[in-house]
Order: sequence, then C-alpha cells, then structure tokens
Amino acid sequence: MIFIVGGAGYIGSHVNKLLSNEGYKTLILDNLSKGHEEFVKWGKFIKGDLKDKRLLARIFKEYDINAVMHFAALTDVRESIQDPGSYYKNNVKNTLNLLDAMRENVKKFIFSSTCAVYGNPLEIPITEDHPCNPISPYGRSKLMIENILEDYSRAYDFNYVSLRYFNAAGADPQTEIGEWHEPETHLIPIILDAAIGKRENVQIFGTDYPTPDGTCIRDYIHVMDLANAHYKALRLLEEDKSEIFNLGNGNGFSVKEIIETCKEITGEKIHTIESKKRPGDPPILIGSSKKAKRILRWRPEFADIKDIIETAWEWHQKLNRETI
Ligand code: UFG
Repeated sequence: MIFIVGGAGYIGSHVNKLLSNEGYKTLILDNLSKGHEEFVKWGKFIKGDLKDKRLLARIFKEYDINAVMHFAALTDVRESIQDPGSYYKNNVKNTLNLLDAMRENVKKFIFSSTCAVYGNPLEIPITEDHPCNPISPYGRSKLMIENILEDYSRAYDFNYVSLRYFNAAGADPQTEIGEWHEPETHLIPIILDAAIGKRENVQIFGTDYPTPDGTCIRDYIHVMDLANAHYKALRLLEEDKSEIFNLGNGNGFSVKEIIETCKEITGEKIHTIESKKRPGDPPILIGSSKKAKRILRWRPEFADIKDIIETAWEWHQKLNRETI
C-alpha cells in the first residue's frame, strides 16, 4: 500500500489517480485545510493532521505501508514571507513527525520539493547541482527537509526521492480532478477565472524584470506528467537508490505569453493591469530535467503549453459549472 499524505490536494490527487490506475492500493491522509474530499476518488481516506503523532503511529501499525509520498505542505511564497512560523511548523516540524513515525517501518519516501530551493538562478536551465539559496521561507522550508532527508536516510537506513517541481499546471485530461485552490494565487487559474468572468482582471506582478517582455518567466509542467514521475520514482526506490530530480519542461513562458495563450484557447477577452512585483519571485525559472529523463526514463507527455492550458481550461469550466 502507498501512503499518500496530502492526497486530497492538487498534485497528490493526480498521483493517487495514476497509481490507482496502475493497480496500487493507496491510503490517503489529508487534513482538508487545502485539499478536497471530493478529490479522493480512489483508495482509502483518513482525515487527519501530521501534528497528530498518535494517529501517525496507529496508521503505520495498522496498515501495510510500502512507501510514503508526502505532498502536505503550505505552498504560497508570498504568504510564507508574511507568516514564516506557519511554514516552518507545517512544512518542517510536521514532516519530522511523519519521518519519525515511518522510519521503523517504511524504507521508501518520496518528497514534493520545489524549484524555489534554488532562489535566483545563476544559470538557466537550472540543473540539480545548481547552488540552493532560497529567497523565501517556503523555499527554505523545503530545502530544510531535503537536508534532513539526507541525514535521516543515512542514519535510519531508508531511501528517498526528492522531486523539485517547477510550475505545476493543467488538470486530469478526463476532468475528474484538477486545480482548485481557495483563495487561488496561481497564474493560469487566475487568468481562467478572468476568462469566465469570475474576476474582472489579471494583475501582472512586475513588468520591468530583466526578461524580453519584462514579465517573469516560468517553466510550466503538466500535473499528470508530475504524477507519472512519482510512479517512476517508486520504481527507482525498488532499486534501493536515493536521488533528487528537477521536473520541468525545459522551456519558459512569460506572464504575458501565458495570458496570450489563454486568450487564444478560451476565445475570451482578458483584462490585465500592471502591478507591483510580488516579493519572493525570481525573474526566470526554467529547469533542466535531463537527469529525470536519463535515470527515471521520464518524458513529459504534455510538452506543449497549449495542451497544458487546454486541460486546465476544460477542468476550470467544469469546476465553475458545478460549484457556482
Ligand atoms: N503572477 C501574476 N499575476 C497573478 C499570479 C501570478 O503576474 O495574479 C505571476 C507571478 O508573479 C509569477 C508567475 O505569474 O511570476 C507564476 O506565478 P504562480 O503563482 O502561478 O507560481 P509561482 O511561480 O509563484 O510558483 C512556483 C511554484 C512554487 C515555487 C515558486 C518559486 O508553484 O512551488 O514557483 O518562486 F515556490
């Protein structure tokens, strides 16, 4: 059985779907602070929090868990700057609870890390050996866990794979699940909200970055491609190996380019306003995923940004038909 912590959230739920389709049994733990019970369509669900050490001890005693995947974290860079305490408690302290509870019983761990561990890149595309100098408490909280994993795995004899996601986007092509944050802070769903008339305009955070059109450039990677990398990482752990991988498409799109592509796909007018820079935003983040391609034999299936946005649009329309 695979224990998916945070499996009711955006990325965790897509991983749950993919693993379940591959025949794995899954157990989902989620406190539903960000996740949605409606997204747990596969596997067994326990509502609970990583703060609850007794619950964790009971879960590891009761269930035959072969591997742990950990998605449960706060992920908003700006919020982490305003309230670092919540980030260190949720993302670091709670992860320690999980690692301490599992280490006697489970020898395989997959961690949701982020390109935010790199900070402002010195070189593009970013490879895994690029120095890690995070510029936000969010990025630092994830890097702290990566460091802890290095020490823990050596001392307590388990293997781990840490996956540094670039910008997760898109949705399950069958539109059973997708991106649903409240409040929404991510660029693509915000633009799609404007396309369906749920918000009046899209703020462009910063227009004088050192990029061709002055707006930030990001590497968008489809959530099903991320899910597939977790499946491949599980197989790598069977070989008793620990590794860190970037997961991105290797190409970047500016905020303005994403808005234009969304206009094209939705056929809607999208009003924009130029706003101040958002703190903690590096100008360009593009990842090299050569290592994942080589070692995991992973290939993004949704390499075209249009395909990514199309799946996001399909889901976005469905979500808003059903919840508004
Ligand atoms: N943006 C806007 N307007 C908005 C929302 C976003 O201009 O209303 C811009 C942001 O400033 C950024 C880009 O669109 O330049 C993408 O923003 P998102 O919020 O969608 O995603 P982030 O780039 O902030 O987040 C990603 C990952 C995080 C990681 C972070 C590192 O999702 O896990 O990059 O900076 F921490």
